[in-house]
Amino acid sequence: MREWTKSSWRDKPRIQMPDYPDQAALNAVEAQLARYPVLVFAGEARRLKKHLGAAGRGEAFLLQGGDCAESFEQFSSDMIRDTFKVMLQMAIVLTHGAKVPVIKLGRMAGQFAKPRSAPTEVVNGVELPSYRGDIINELDFTAEARIPDPQKMLRAYTQAAATLNLIRAFSTGGYADVHEVHRWTLGFTDNEKAEKYREIANRISDTLDFMAAAGVTSETAHTLQSVEFYTSHESLLLEYEEALCRQESQTGKWLAGSGHMIWIGDRTRQPDGAHVEFARGVQNPIGLKCGPSMTEDDLKRLMATLNPDNEAGRLTLIARFGAGAVGEHLPRLIRTVEQEGASVVWTCDAMHGNTIKASNGYKTRPFDSVLREVREFFAVHAAEGTVPGGVHFEMTGQDVTECTGGVRSVSDEDLSDRYHTACDPRLNASQSLELAFLVAEELSARRSAQATQAAG
Ligand code: PEP
Ligand code: CO
Repeated sequence: MREWTKSSWRDKPRIQMPDYPDQAALNAVEAQLARYPVLVFAGEARRLKKHLGAAGRGEAFLLQGGDCAESFEQFSSDMIRDTFKVMLQMAIVLTHGAKVPVIKLGRMAGQFAKPRSAPTEVVNGVELPSYRGDIINELDFTAEARIPDPQKMLRAYTQAAATLNLIRAFSTGGYADVHEVHRWTLGFTDNEKAEKYREIANRISDTLDFMAAAGVTSETAHTLQSVEFYTSHESLLLEYEEALCRQESQTGKWLAGSGHMIWIGDRTRQPDGAHVEFARGVQNPIGLKCGPSMTEDDLKRLMATLNPDNEAGRLTLIARFGAGAVGEHLPRLIRTVEQEGASVVWTCDAMHGNTIKASNGYKTRPFDSVLREVREFFAVHAAEGTVPGGVHFEMTGQDVTECTGGVRSVSDEDLSDRYHTACDPRLNASQSLELAFLVAEELSARRSAQATQAAG
């Protein structure tokens, strides 16, 4: 394989990236970003990798979630806090079901660039370049707004830095105290499923009471008070990634300094493409989206390229086939991994294979399809005897109406009420929690099955 450098991706086919009209402006921004501090540190990325290695063995569980696309306009501390809070709440519920540590990984602080299914968009007979995320161009449907502007990378960097700064403060400053986060029950009122949820919540409170009685409180046990929270995003805009890519002086290894984990999207995972080339040379944990078109051969090549030393926690395979299609694709890819003896973390993105157009034209995802894909994912792993290592959701702490269904049922007609996403529809806070409970049930069923097996 040819030698890797942080710019060797430039010799590979370039897809899903903008052609900047002003090369000089682009160069100036890249030079400026290359002087800015990295957002994450190598030791943190290695620590996340270690945790992910545990998830691959079933000794931890990955919860990855956040916006489809972060937005400049909707950037606020409340937004960050609410998403952070819901993720902590989900993590508590999952920990309860799985009885293993839950790795909290936000699609945050860098999730700005979006791959698109078509390069242009037509509205009322007018054709314009597609919106590619706030780091590239603007959502407004005008020719001006759709011109890629490299200055936006600097704004994205600043927003990512501020986001991460707040997350770091929340993680250690008392906000993430486990005694605070179990208050999520207030979100569930008089509906038929609420009772079941309250039951689990009560057990969590009981456990906390018991621990307190035994002398384990936030004051005595630091882990109750703080949380490890990591960031991730799709490494799509490689000019931005390269500018934040740095060599660690002690080890000589390279780090994508833009986030703890970076992933490769389903549209940009060509084994010979630019995105795979960039990712293979950095030491961060790498995610790889696996959609229905992923062949066994491609997966073999990608695993060999992205994880040549078969390092635990290095590679997370993010399955996103769509409800009803998991049984057709996941077993063949699991078998490929097993045949290769490859160490991977299998996780389920139950969003991207389940996007539909509602009767009134809104892009949405039925909650039931999301749930069904998660169930299919667990069932296939149970049948194959392999480890379901995590889940991946597009979600927000806000009370949006973007996905249909859930306990506080959102209908097609409700979609227009609070549809705020800059890209794909997200689960709202209530739907996210409901899903966490359902995943927790799957996890605890898996534990019981394993216990029965061990006993028998
Ligand atoms: C995404 O995660 O927002 C995304 C575009 O996913 P995928 O590459 O799986 O389509
Ligand atoms: Co998306």
